[in-house]
Formats: sequence, structure tokens, C-alpha cells
Amino acid sequence: MTPAQSMLHEATGLTLSRSVVDRAIRHRMEHNPAANQDAYLDRMTPEELTALVELVVVPESWFYRDPQAFQAALEFIRARLAADANHMVRILSVPCAGGEEPYTMAMVLADAGVPRASYIIDAFDISPGCVERAKSGIYGRNAFRSQDLGFRDRHFGSDGDDYRISDALRQQVRFKQGNLLEFDLGARTGHYDVIFCRNLLIYFDKATTKAAIAKLDALLGESGLLFAGYAEVPSFCQYGFTPLQYPQAFGLRKESARPAPAVKPVARAAPRIARRAPPAIPAPAPKPAHRLAPVPVPAPPAPAATDLLAEARRLADLGQLKEAENTSRDHLAQSPDSAEAYFILGLVNELTNKRQLAEDYWKRCIYLQPDHYEALCHLALLAETNNDPGAATALKARAARVYKRQQGS
Ligand SMILES: C[S@@+](CC[C@H](N)C(=O)[O-])C[C@H]1O[C@@H](n2cnc3c(N)ncnc32)[C@H](O)[C@@H]1O
Repeated sequence: MTPAQSMLHEATGLTLSRSVVDRAIRHRMEHNPAANQDAYLDRMTPEELTALVELVVVPESWFYRDPQAFQAALEFIRARLAADANHMVRILSVPCAGGEEPYTMAMVLADAGVPRASYIIDAFDISPGCVERAKSGIYGRNAFRSQDLGFRDRHFGSDGDDYRISDALRQQVRFKQGNLLEFDLGARTGHYDVIFCRNLLIYFDKATTKAAIAKLDALLGESGLLFAGYAEVPSFCQYGFTPLQYPQAFGLRKESARPAPAVKPVARAAPRIARRAPPAIPAPAPKPAHRLAPVPVPAPPAPAATDLLAEARRLADLGQLKEAENTSRDHLAQSPDSAEAYFILGLVNELTNKRQLAEDYWKRCIYLQPDHYEALCHLALLAETNNDPGAATALKARAARVYKRQQGS
């Protein structure tokens, strides 16, 4: 690392390439002329460092990015309020970039009729420019990338060529400039019910990722939910979190927490890669009617395969591992190539520390369904635990490709 790279790494936690840093410094030297980079660095002030940081951050965000995360958060929040109507739900978005993420949460809650007085959203970003933009609530077209733009009609007014979010929503979010790595926990320990920390850890090295997760762990209440970026889930699993069974939400909860029954497991979306049809299950031969029982009582119908799978997921979510395992096996008896059942068996075995078995099941899962995102993430994590960084990187990259493909389709 050059001295400039180290300085920016210390200030932000970001692992930045030399070319990015050199370009940013060249740009700043146009405003603050210096003989060379060393001379520029020697005269560094806090204000100049802030201006330099602005040039290296990636404030890419848009409304309803990974919409399932907001849906999962909404279900969780509703259940919290149903259990205790006086509970003040505390939500944190860090980093919030230009405010797209916390405002999306506010829109989802408003559209669902959650009373405004029941929740509070805090939002932080290291970049003062981002925080200013977020506070202004004015957005160009690029912030609206989802297909359904009904939310824009409901919550935005026009501002020239741009769109301005309603004042009511602006008041629901408290924006502040802040560096996650330097968060003063103070009164905030265990403070938040829901945390969004998405698409930040991908820019951190391993040590910084660990430090950031420790902060988030401290900020999150024991039974709270955390939402990560798709490529960040494996890192959270490595440091004390466990994935929420909610497709495409990339939610996690603390491993130490009791499972949160509030967010119901839902069936995975149908696999997007064409697969063989499962082998037909021969229908049982009709039994001869008993002569003394002319009106036979029909046996209760066997549960449908999809019900068994949903039940297996539910049991795994509740931590009833033996039952989840048995139900997955029952499901496999009906659908022998169910990738999802193998995935659940992998989870059950990992949770009971049978890592080799877990790995075998997940490998079977991705053999049957090569685009099974969660299995790829778990295998990546396992490879990291097994000190096989090459395999871990390849699996993470594959998971990322799957994700991108699924988002695109
Ligand atoms: C790619 S955006 C993610 C925004 C949003 N969470 C999302 O997923 O759409 C990354 C943001 O992280 C911010 N950032 C970088 N380092 C940070 C740090 N140490 N603490 C807080 N924010 C940081 C950047 O300013 C940038 O706005």
C-alpha cells in the first residue's frame, strides 16, 4: 500500500486501488496545488481529507434495491408491533448513500399503514455530500430503477427534471454523517431492531470486515434482523450471524438469538435453470376392499411435497433440527431431486457441527440446482473456514454471478 492508500484505509476502512487513489489526489491537487503527492499528503487537513474521501467512495444506490429485504423487514416490524403496540421500532441504515435505502424503508412502512409514531429511522454515511443529498430528498432518474414506479407517484413531487420526496417521509429519517468503524456505541448498544448494512463490506478487507461486523453486532438488539448485500452474507455467517430463510432478502439474525418466528419462511422462487422433471412416483396399487367393511374410510391424504418442504423450512427456522431433518427426508422420498431439501439438510448438519455432511448435502444441492444462491454462499463460507481461500473466492464469485443473473431476469 502507498502512504496515500494507507491514509485513506485508516480514514474509511476502504481497500482502494492505487489508481483510484492517485486519480483522486491528482484531482484534489488542482484545487490545492502541491509539488507532488508527498507534499500534498504532508499538508493534509481534516477538511482536505473529507474532500478526498468524497472522491473515492462509491455512493451507488437506488430505491427498492433488493426489494425482498424491505418486505422481510416489514413483516418483522409488524410482528414486533403486534406483540407490543407501544414498542418503538428502531431502524438503522448504514451506509445510507444518498438516502435511497432508508427512504425506501419509510415508504414501505407508510404504504403498509404502519403508524409514523411507531418507528424511527437513523441513517449514516461517511460522505457529507451523500448526507446533504439525502437530506434534500431530491433525486434524478437514476435513483428509480425498479420496474414498478407506483411509489414515485405516491411519495414524490416533481422538481424540474428531478423528483422530490414528500416532507412527511423526509421527517421520518434522521440523517447524520458518520463512519461505521468509529461509531461510539455508548447508549446504542443493542439499540436497533433492524439494521441495513448493505454493499459496504464488499469494499473492506478481512480485518476491517470483522471489525465492522463486531460494531453491527453490538448495535443490533439480541433478536433483531440485519440485512446485508448479497455478496456479504457469507462474511456475516463467519462472525456470529445466521441467514434468514427469506429468498433474496439477504437477511440475517444473531446466531445466539432465538429464531425470530415473525418472518415466515416462504417458498423459494422457482429455479431459473431448466431441470429434469422429477422421476414419477408410481401410484400405489388399489387395495382390495375388505368384505366386512363395504364403506372404506379413506386414509388421510399424504401431505403434498411442497407442504413438506415449507414445513421443513419452518422447523429449521424454529431450531427443531431433528424434525426438520425428518421432514426433509420425507420430502425427498416424494421428490428425490429436491435441491431445497438437500439445502435444508445441509443447514441442519452444519448447525449440529457435522460440517463434512453439510458440505456433501450442499454440493448435492448445487449439483441439482446450479444457481442455488444460498448453498453457494454456505459452501463459500465453509471453504473459508477450511482455509481454502481459492475455493471460497471461486464460490463467492459464482454466487455473485447467479445473483446478477437472477436480478437481470
Ligand atoms: C454502494 S453504497 C451503499 C448504499 C446502500 N446501503 C445500498 O446498498 O444501496 C456505499 C456507501 O458506503 C459509504 N461508506 C464508505 N465507507 C464507509 C464507512 N466506513 N462508514 C460509513 N459509510 C461508509 C460510501 O460513502 C457510500 O455512500
